[in-house]
Amino acid sequence: MTPPTTEARVSALRPQLEAWRRHLHMHPELSFEEHETAAYIEAELKKMPGLSVTRPTATSVLAVLRGGKPGKRVLLRADIDALPIHEENTFEFKSKRDGVMHACGHDGHTAILLGTAKLLSEDAANVAGEIRMIFQHAEENGPGGAEELVTQTPLMDGVDVATGLHLSSGLPAGKVGIRAGAFMASPDMLTLKIIGKGGHGAQPEQTIDPIAIGAQIVSNLQHVVSRNVSALESLVVSITQFHAGTTHNVIPDTAELVGTVRCFSPELRQRAPQLIERVVKGICEAHGARYEMNYDFGYRPVINTDWVAQTLRDIAVAEFGEGDVVEAPQWMGGEDFSAYLEKAPGAYFNVGSASDEADSHWPHHHPRFTLDELSLETGVRMMYAAAQRLAAEG
Ligand code: NI
Repeated sequence: MTPPTTEARVSALRPQLEAWRRHLHMHPELSFEEHETAAYIEAELKKMPGLSVTRPTATSVLAVLRGGKPGKRVLLRADIDALPIHEENTFEFKSKRDGVMHACGHDGHTAILLGTAKLLSEDAANVAGEIRMIFQHAEENGPGGAEELVTQTPLMDGVDVATGLHLSSGLPAGKVGIRAGAFMASPDMLTLKIIGKGGHGAQPEQTIDPIAIGAQIVSNLQHVVSRNVSALESLVVSITQFHAGTTHNVIPDTAELVGTVRCFSPELRQRAPQLIERVVKGICEAHGARYEMNYDFGYRPVINTDWVAQTLRDIAVAEFGEGDVVEAPQWMGGEDFSAYLEKAPGAYFNVGSASDEADSHWPHHHPRFTLDELSLETGVRMMYAAAQRLAAEG
């Protein structure tokens, strides 16, 4: 008798995958608060023979499978946290917590890694190397769970290669998106306080108007993008908050601006704060204002290792056929998967989750976001094959 194919095994697992995902969807928890989520994951993993299950931090879970054959150490990662969004979906497994929702698909990521753990545990004797499956807390909120795991725990010690996936409502269910090299941006944050001199709205000549100065800064910052950085490089500078003033006839003393600065290149990332400050300083000095600028570096850009991306692409083509594998577009969103890539080669990839039937084209972080659950099967098939292939050849 021929053993069942991975496709058949994963298809048989579909009701369980849905049950995991829906349970998690109903019980979302915010970053660093994933206590019930972690307890649930731990309990499910402990039902699977052959896994060593531990809690590296209060709200993360690690399952380690030592295969029966020699091989490499592979890290598989799922993020488990939800967002402060009030869900507007009406299906029966919608969030039971007001104002908290799995609106990015991390419920799906967790179900996929649980499914992968189950398949690997069933054939541990034939698995090569060591597979470390990390259910990571706090992807959505800096400084991020990955950084904590990488710097405060031995998770990455001896790891040869790392991979993880993000479900994508920008890609049809059944498809896989992979990209070598620069994939996701560094989301850094700029905070700026312009200190002028307030006064009567009728006598602006006696004031140093922080609103007029701030407006100039907002528009001139785009010159950093268009005139200081090559058109061949990507940089986004967006001022997303501008707070000043209290009423119509008073010029305030100060204005506060907050924005996001994103790019793919580590060199440009280091240079961006100076380029921005030069504009801020010049405009403030020209008008006699002072300023305080804070620049917070967020997650590093996600730069995929070429050979790992190629291996994942080969796996996807073998599993699903050439027609269902696309080159994932670069995007300016951030991801703390980059913390693992500081320690080992690896690649992060997308699995499509959009379909008309599931009404799952809504963007990530939207109150109507949801998944076509076919994506859970696609995800397990990718992660299971990646674990085996990367451990065998590394
Ligand atoms: Ni996400």
